[in-house]
Amino acid sequence: MSPHENFSFQSTDELLGKAKELGVELPYQESLSDLFESISLGTKKISNRLAIQPMEGFDGMADGSPDELTFRRYKKYAQGGSGLIWFEATAVVPEGRSNPSQLMLTPHTLDVFKSLLDQTREIAIRSLGSTHEVYCVLQITHSGRFSRPSGKPEPWAACFNPLLDRDAQNIHVASDEELLRLEDVFVNAAQLAFQAGFDAVDVKACHGYLINDLLGAHTRKDSRFGETFEKRISFLLDIVQRIRENVPRLGVAVRLNASDNIPYPYGFGMSREDSDEADLTEALTLVKQLIDQGCLLFNITLGIPHHTPHFGRPFDRPVGEVPVPDEHPLVGVGRLLKTAGKFQSAFPDVPFVSTGFSWLRRFFPHVGAAMVGSGESTFIGLGRSSFAYPDAPKDLMHTGALDPQKTCITCSRCSELIEGGYSTGCVIRDSEIYGPHYQKFLARQRA
Ligand SMILES: Cc1cc2nc3c(=O)[nH]c(=O)nc-3n(C[C@H](O)[C@H](O)[C@H](O)COP(=O)(O)O)c2cc1C
Repeated sequence: MSPHENFSFQSTDELLGKAKELGVELPYQESLSDLFESISLGTKKISNRLAIQPMEGFDGMADGSPDELTFRRYKKYAQGGSGLIWFEATAVVPEGRSNPSQLMLTPHTLDVFKSLLDQTREIAIRSLGSTHEVYCVLQITHSGRFSRPSGKPEPWAACFNPLLDRDAQNIHVASDEELLRLEDVFVNAAQLAFQAGFDAVDVKACHGYLINDLLGAHTRKDSRFGETFEKRISFLLDIVQRIRENVPRLGVAVRLNASDNIPYPYGFGMSREDSDEADLTEALTLVKQLIDQGCLLFNITLGIPHHTPHFGRPFDRPVGEVPVPDEHPLVGVGRLLKTAGKFQSAFPDVPFVSTGFSWLRRFFPHVGAAMVGSGESTFIGLGRSSFAYPDAPKDLMHTGALDPQKTCITCSRCSELIEGGYSTGCVIRDSEIYGPHYQKFLARQRA
């Protein structure tokens, strides 16, 4: 029988009992006060530990500008009271877009990004008061192997990967010269992000996209960016170093895959002895080097969604035809939290965002508070929950609890919408907008 089970817990005792039965160390505390301890980051004082994780909405314009639905999403995030808003994956070049509606930061789209950011800050203050400062990070990225700039795959990879690629012929392996040119583009994007008013950029190094792909490029031969650890990390380190030099007043963050869950030599952060086991040694060493270069914030995640989606986002119901994983979702939640905790404990003076809370529904604040209280995480990052329940922080402030009727149910419909090429959000809790998108998606599936 599959160990996978849908969420069914009615009480804390039931949840903690299941965790114990599964051997999952799930931190938990009744008091939520640790979530509302303010913290300084750079020159800002952030009023709470709740963070919106980067969540692509697939709702930008053809030129990469944020559109109406993008403005609507960020308005809801700002009203909701999170102290940290980590803006979604934003392409640095057209060919690196994950889809034709992915946001893209260029000189041409700069003014619209600026308006989006101004709106976000203004609404946050209007909603929470003048003492509420919101820290805004922009995730900049190249989608690499998962680029679909015109809706069809146009992969751009560090090397052919037999566990991810069907056919070597269709993969464009980026040359060193192309990568060197791309470094300039990332630095320019960071400059634009600073002009737009972001507090920091995240040089995205997770979920199998280009920079993460380079971290695991053990089989990339005769290149300054492959094989040895020093060479595999040099693209990311070069970019971070150059941003620090060229845009010194902009913070630099990294969302990092601690481990890809793809056996060595085809993934990052895997044991060389046991092909299924993560080995965090390289990721920890990389973080140390990034801190030495001046990175001020990290966000730890796992896995490659296109390969093992449950590693990064434990769910009740998988996307479409994807089989239910052979693992209880609570095991996945425990893995994500424990991994983030290892990084935070290794570098206690630097803030880390942990992820994997949405599956816990109304219990997540207590697990998150225990992570913060025990020093295993500085911020609690919410992904799908932010689509479903963007005002969760405000409800926690006002009532001390979440409304079970508003929580994410981890049904994967938001992921199905993006796989179908539709703008996404919560089909269940924001059904007025996303229900019709999902009906169209289903109709197309049936046709
Ligand atoms: C629809 C969708 C879009 C996402 N977009 C991004 C993104 O732009 N950047 C990123 O780093 N992660 C992205 N993620 C992953 C989330 O940030 C988060 O890590 C994941 O959903 C697990 O957190 P949760 O359990 O709170 O949902 C996305 C996930 C989903 C479902």
